[in-house]
Amino acid sequence: MQFAGSHILSVQQFERGDVERIFSVADRMAPYAHRRRITKVLDGAILGSMFFEPSTRTRVSFGSAFNLLGGEVRETTGFENSAIAKGESLYDTARVLSGYSDVIVMRHPAEGSVREFAAASRVPVMNGGDGSNEHPSQALLDLYTIQSEMAASGRSIDQLRIAMVGDLRYGRTVHSLCKLLCLFSGVQVVLVSPRELRMPAEIVEALCNTGHQVLESDALEESIAHVDIVYSTRIQEERFSSQEEADLYRGRFRLNQSIYTHNCEPNTVIMHPLPRDSRDHARELDDDLNDNPNLAIFRQTDNGVLVRMALFALILDVVKQVDAHARDVNWYTAGRF
Ligand code: CP
Repeated sequence: MQFAGSHILSVQQFERGDVERIFSVADRMAPYAHRRRITKVLDGAILGSMFFEPSTRTRVSFGSAFNLLGGEVRETTGFENSAIAKGESLYDTARVLSGYSDVIVMRHPAEGSVREFAAASRVPVMNGGDGSNEHPSQALLDLYTIQSEMAASGRSIDQLRIAMVGDLRYGRTVHSLCKLLCLFSGVQVVLVSPRELRMPAEIVEALCNTGHQVLESDALEESIAHVDIVYSTRIQEERFSSQEEADLYRGRFRLNQSIYTHNCEPNTVIMHPLPRDSRDHARELDDDLNDNPNLAIFRQTDNGVLVRMALFALILDVVKQVDAHARDVNWYTAGRF
């Protein structure tokens, strides 16, 4: 694809070569993301960051990625702080905000809303999550993490064995990740969920149509026995009609150190898009896994900055200029990465 000036709305706009290009640019962002070098390649550029649903990682890492490339961030969080609360349309909001920004990232609770916003925007728009639909930058950082974790033990994304566990109906990260996996070959996917929260049929069909092996299950322990990755997800309580309905499913599939030790292969990697629900009645990924070296959840969050920097560099067409606008940092930075 032509990255310069493009919106990033769905992983379905990518071919495998595009994903490999993003990952290769992400690798080059490491000195900047790891605070060894500073670049001012986006000096003067403005990111409009609009999050109409709660977010920690996506909002802050998109902002940090833009700052690390030398740009500035203008944030709107919550409908209550936007003129949308006074009845302004997405069309008008997009026309206005795109006059103030060079690129926009947006999260919104309604499926398709970011695409509608992008159609009216005068600058590129990136989907930070639209309802249950998609979360493309999360899927890219997840796949980048999978590639890196697999490479460390001589494995690859092709022929990957992955179990996705939890709320597969409303979890937009697993929707986008499955669609990205369709670009690779020979993947075995075990989908572990309550019957009511199964992966949408069209996504299962897309995996099967691209030659992948898909197994659906509602039993955690047997499903994680022979996989490279266990990708756990939170019950997406904000998509349910009541907390009571979400409570029917919370805590159904808990992975802790004991279950991991008794069921998983020794080098099975544990992932989660986060936030994990650490309340007692949930705990889909128990805190007692925190010292497990195969717990990759914070490597995922660190990788989010690299991948989002890469997306900005590609969309704003500055990849070749990043190093020319760089210098070493002034401060002590050892030990964080
Ligand atoms: N993974 C993710 O989207 O996290 P946030 O909701 O904190 O952005």
